[in-house]
Amino acid sequence: TDAVSVASTGVSMPLLGFGVYQVPKPTCVDVCLAALAAGYRHIDSAQVYENEAEVGQAVSQASAKLGISRKDVFLTTKIMSHSDNGSQTMYESVANSVSKIGGRKKDAYVDLFLVHAPGTRQFREDAWKALEKLYEQGRAKTIGVSNFTVEDLEEMKEYATIWPPHVNQIELHPWCQERETVQYCENHHIILQAYSPLDQGNRKNDPAVVTIAEKHKKSPAQVLIRYSLQKGWIPLPKSVNLDRIKQNTDVYDFELASDDMAALDSLES
Ligand code: A2P
Repeated sequence: TDAVSVASTGVSMPLLGFGVYQVPKPTCVDVCLAALAAGYRHIDSAQVYENEAEVGQAVSQASAKLGISRKDVFLTTKIMSHSDNGSQTMYESVANSVSKIGGRKKDAYVDLFLVHAPGTRQFREDAWKALEKLYEQGRAKTIGVSNFTVEDLEEMKEYATIWPPHVNQIELHPWCQERETVQYCENHHIILQAYSPLDQGNRKNDPAVVTIAEKHKKSPAQVLIRYSLQKGWIPLPKSVNLDRIKQNTDVYDFELASDDMAALDSLES
């Protein structure tokens, strides 16, 4: 299986996503088209990445260029503030993002809309209520949060109508395992998405990872993506390089053994 279904929504989320953080505007359309051609069907954007419109353009071009239609792609974005995109209200801000990604058609939608970061108590409440409205309207098929701690997730009960959130997207890789948050999300069936699954490329020459990679004749990056998948997380690796974009999807022909997983687990002291 290469997708997970999101509790109670009937939405299916591809297990591997493509992250476009720091993918510059001018190259973003081509990079997303390359990712779609390589097999990704899940793209993770955000208001602050300033490339929502380019992601949207890539998906609309994918229809003619690749025969991939909007409904075949899972698109995520995130709200950081209501003023970033010149909006007056939180709802206007999220609705603006939907138009950027999904186009101006009345039935435009995103597959997942996240509150990007906890910010202030007022922001959390206002942003979540805007997302609940978008969800009720069907303009966000699922909604969730990002960078939320257990405390932030518990606090949501004070203001949320829809709880638990469908997703919590956090930084997750062997050197950042967030065990308490992960356990809590598993208990509450909140899907964990892993951003920076490659630790932003910082530790790709780590000897423990290299050893496992050599054993499986795969690259360190592929080992880290596989680690994330086997943890039950949804990894969102980012790359602007065609070969690495392809390489990062080629992770289904091997499996990490339990001792490999244990060795990776032990990297966070
Ligand atoms: P590039 O975009 O030049 O490929 P993360 O997803 O954890 O944020 O990591 C992204 C970083 O890792 C980027 O610097 C990216 O560089 C690099 N990267 C992505 N895929 C690979 C790969 N397969 N091998 C080595 N580095 C990679």
